[in-house]
Formats: sequence, structure tokens, C-alpha cells
Amino acid sequence: MVLRTLIKNGTIVTAVDQYKGDLLLEGEKIALIGTSLGMEADKTIDASGKYVLPGGIDVHTHLDMPFGGTTSADDFESGTTAAAFGGTTSIVDFAIQYKGQTLHHAWETWAKKAESKAVIDYGFHMIMTDLNDQTEQEMDALVRQGISSFKLFMAYRGIFMLDDGSIFKALLRTGKNGGTICMHAENGDVIDVLVQRALAEGKTAPKYHALTRPARAEAEATHRAIALSEIADVPIYIVHLSAAEALEMVTEARDRGLPAYAETCPQYLFLSYDNYEEPGFNGAKYVMSPPLRQKAQQEQLWRGLAFNDLHCISTDHCPFCMKEQKELGRNDFSKIPNGAPGIETRMSLVYDGGVRAGRISLNRFVELTSTSPAKIFGLFPRKGTIAPGSDADVVIFDPQRTITLSAGTLHMKVDYNPYEGRQVTGAADTVLSRGRVIIDGGKFVGRPGSGCFLKRSTRS
Ligand code: URP
Ligand code: ZN
Ligand code: ZN
Repeated sequence: MVLRTLIKNGTIVTAVDQYKGDLLLEGEKIALIGTSLGMEADKTIDASGKYVLPGGIDVHTHLDMPFGGTTSADDFESGTTAAAFGGTTSIVDFAIQYKGQTLHHAWETWAKKAESKAVIDYGFHMIMTDLNDQTEQEMDALVRQGISSFKLFMAYRGIFMLDDGSIFKALLRTGKNGGTICMHAENGDVIDVLVQRALAEGKTAPKYHALTRPARAEAEATHRAIALSEIADVPIYIVHLSAAEALEMVTEARDRGLPAYAETCPQYLFLSYDNYEEPGFNGAKYVMSPPLRQKAQQEQLWRGLAFNDLHCISTDHCPFCMKEQKELGRNDFSKIPNGAPGIETRMSLVYDGGVRAGRISLNRFVELTSTSPAKIFGLFPRKGTIAPGSDADVVIFDPQRTITLSAGTLHMKVDYNPYEGRQVTGAADTVLSRGRVIIDGGKFVGRPGSGCFLKRSTRS
């Protein structure tokens, strides 16, 4: 028996539309959209006064990821549950190929982490740290099998970093197989020199993480990444862009007609270098790469989002507890695990600080948090919109509800929240994943293991 769910009286919002209407979901799919659907259903949800949005898509998460001498605090169960609470119904996480390993081995390892735990749908990008003839061939196979994007690093020498020649070869390969290269764009070698100099001068506090990773080091790498992709004649996607100087590189490339894409993250829109100056070791909460920038840069990022020089807002969710994890770097900022939590707070923060603050339209909000990630990463139109035949990933979003962000009430498995005490208006009430209610009026009613692996196609 196919479950039929009717969502009535809501305001349906996509990247281009906004209208009062009803949705009929049949099984896992959206079956009908109308202004006043009167048919029988197994379940009826009244969405009066609420927005009916396509489920959020977060294309940058790190669940259960070994990094910085420890492992990110959320696994696929706690991380995807928290995502669901926040109105996100699909993620694209990162599998890691370590040196000497095949890409297939990395995929298998990450598939095992996710399959019995995920409560929402998930895909993988492949982090490549070792490029050779065999891995280049494997890239083609992975794209065919639904892992159609690859993350490369221009920083973290000895761990993740690839040299320009390898990066260029990988870019060239995507010209043949249709995959997308996602770039961590920071000049790692320059940063390493700055870090060693700071430590030698006894500068060990968390704020030196930011002071040794200048915006220009991000801009230089962004420029270089785009230049390499231009020579290879393929698109490129810059991840977690934080600095206005880096955005200028993307804008300049796009003005010349190049297919350069980029994402930013809520932390770069709402937090700033000032957070590193918080007393004691508190600055460690914000140690991530690239680091938080000067507050004045935020408006430039918002302009990039409004004018389509930035295309997605993802989270780079990579949580580490203060206790026992961030503490690893109490006497040396370079040993603080890099990353912060954000998978649960993205939609509310961006709605509140973007739509309510008049910086982006409601349609652009949907585009940045769902439609555009779906298009760039091969999930559209199965995901990322409300249309007959699309997956019934639906968020009933209350634009009037005010919540206070706090580690004590959020569901991420981490002992602090970077936005502790911040009030935001606009929150997910009810969330459906492929037609099943998984968040019901703020209560989790989903099931670990019900999330499916997303076999992604190439860009659309
Ligand atoms: O600090 C960060 N961003 N941690 C996660 C790993 C990465 O580079 O995305
Ligand atoms: Zn990165
Ligand atoms: Zn990341």
C-alpha cells in the first residue's frame, strides 16, 4: 500500500515560485500540486501560515571523519538527525582516499559508516590525496557509479595536499568524465611557514590560527585553482569560501564567462575574527580553515550570494568538542582540530539573517540552500524543488517561530555552539524525507538506516 499524504493550505516556495497551494505525496514522490486538493489521504498535514519548502541540501559535511588526531563528534546517526531537525533532508559528505588506497576502498569505508545510521539521504564526494594512473581511471568509474565530485586540497601538506600537477591532471580528467572538482583553496605552503614562525615566536593562542591563514593566501589559491581549471577547460567549485579577496577572484572569472562556482557557509556570514579574541581558550571553538574573517567582509559575501557569484550555502559541519578534542591544541593552536558544528542551524540562520534581514529573497534562500546545490551536484530535479515526480523531501517551515540557538537544546553531539544564545526567527516544524515524516512538530520520528545512498549524476 502506497502512503498518501496531503499537505494543505501552505505557501509553496521554490527557487522561482511562491503561491498558496496543496501537495499530494504518494509513497516517496510528490504526485500532485493544486490550489485546493480534495482527495482522500492516509495523513493530512495543515500547513496554514507556514512555508512548504523543498528539503534543504547540505553539500559539505564531515560526519565520523578522522581529522587532527581525533574524529568529528557527529556520526551519521547524530549528524543526520540534527540535519533533519534543521530542515535538511540530503547531505553530500566526504569519503577520504588516504595515500596508497584506492578510491573504491574509501567509498566502501564511508558507505559502512553511513548505511545503517543515516536518517536522511546522503551522497559522497571523494577526497583524493593520491593521484596516479589507477586513481585517474577509478575517477571515471566513480562518476558512473554516482560519486560525481572530488575534493582536492591546496593546503595541509603531508595529509591532504596535492601538488599543482596532480590537481591539473584531475581537472583534465573531469573534462572527460563529467565530474566536478571541489577545491579547498588556501596556499598551504605559505601558511605552514607562517605557522612555524608564529610558534617559534611563542604565539600559541587560538587567534594565531586565523593570523597565520591570511585572506590573501585564500585568494591566491582561489585564483590559481580557477586558472588551472581554465587551462583544463572545465568547471570548478570552490568550497567554504570565506574571504572577500577570494570572492573577487571568482567574480572576475565569472565576468569573463568561466564556469567558476563557489559556496560559502553561515559561519563566514555571521561570525568574525572578533570571536578568536574571546577570553581564555574560547577562540578554539572557531578554529576552522579557512578561518573567520573581519566582520566588514560579511556584506561582500552577502552581495556575492545575492548576485550569483556565490552559488550555495553549505555548512562544512565538522564538529569537535571543546573537552578532549579542541583541547588537544591548548598549548599550540596548530594542534586544535579544524572545524565547527553547523548542520542543524543553517536554514534558520540563513532565513533569519538573509531573508528577514532583506539581504536575499525567499526564492533565493531556497535556491542557495536546496536548488542550486542539487543542480551543481547532480541531484536535480529528483531533489531541490517541489514538482510532480520529485522526491517528497518537504520542509514545513514556520517563518514566525523564534528559537534560541544553544548546545543544550540543539541535537548535534558537541559540547558548545558557535552561536550560543543567538535568537533566530524561522524554523522547520515538520520534515518529510521521501514521503515519511521524520520530524513531527519538533519531535524526531525517523529511523536510523532509512536514509538512502544518492547516486548522483553529473551537473545539470
Ligand atoms: O576546518 C575545516 N574546514 N575542517 C573540515 C575540513 C575541510 O577542510 O573542509
Ligand atoms: Zn576544506
Ligand atoms: Zn570541509
